[in-house]
Amino acid sequence: MIQVDQTLCIGCGQCQADCFSGAIQVREGKVQPPEGDCLLCGHCVAVCPVGAVSIPDYDMADVEPCGTGPAVEPEKLLRLIKERRSIRRFTEQKIEKEKLRLLFEAGRYTTTAKNNQDCLFILVQEERAELERRVWGYVESMEPEWREDPLLRNFVYFLRRYQRDNREDTLFRNAPAVLFVCSKRPLDAGLAAQDMELMAAAQGLGAQYNGYLQRLVESSRELKDWLGTGDRTVAACMLLGYPAVRYWRTAPRKSAQVIEK
Ligand SMILES: Cc1cc2nc3c(=O)[nH]c(=O)nc-3n(C[C@H](O)[C@H](O)[C@H](O)COP(=O)(O)O)c2cc1C
Repeated sequence: MIQVDQTLCIGCGQCQADCFSGAIQVREGKVQPPEGDCLLCGHCVAVCPVGAVSIPDYDMADVEPCGTGPAVEPEKLLRLIKERRSIRRFTEQKIEKEKLRLLFEAGRYTTTAKNNQDCLFILVQEERAELERRVWGYVESMEPEWREDPLLRNFVYFLRRYQRDNREDTLFRNAPAVLFVCSKRPLDAGLAAQDMELMAAAQGLGAQYNGYLQRLVESSRELKDWLGTGDRTVAACMLLGYPAVRYWRTAPRKSAQVIEK
């Protein structure tokens, strides 16, 4: 729950004005701890000019002072977005713990609907070979049914290619790590995944969303149990590692489809 240090509170009302649920109120010049629904979104902590509000349910040591303007210049952010590529060739180098930590931080701080904070980040690096074995085993077990389905037939085709030469791996691309972002609200997971992809790019890592692998894993209770997704949807799957390719220029795009009224 929210705590207000009444000795610090100046009754400015910023927390009340920023509160989504109207749970926090200023009465007699002081903020009262919220009554009713509170999302624990932390806006009252963030907006208080004197640091009078805290939420002991969280680690308050995490809270950092903000700068006076955006932390990244727009052109630099756009440059990162334009220069990031979906990586389909990786080196064997594993991803260091510190870089993984920053990926998880990027996911953790991404917005979620109703401040749900329900995303689960499953990073498979140590047991990557076992994941691959299980996934290909699953494809093989489904082959008779999937042969009949035009969309799913792709998986059988991938399997055959992989069996001929295990460097021809459409699902894993020999990436040293695979990230699954899971949530009961797939958009929350998608947003977190995108921030994580940008954080990967900012650290010189390469990432590739893999829609095929995501669909495969999401369709298998056994794989989901092995990963530990619980009842969450596997909304995004991302191959991760160091790129074994250098891009010399950005890739072209169609014009943006925009309606401005
Ligand atoms: C949801 C999603 C799923 C994707 N799935 C795959 C995939 O299974 N295999 C693959 O090689 N690329 C996949 N991609 C990458 C796209 O093909 C890629 O974005 C596109 O080729 C443009 O390249 P760029 O990301 O380098 O700009 C996926 C991208 C998204 C957003």
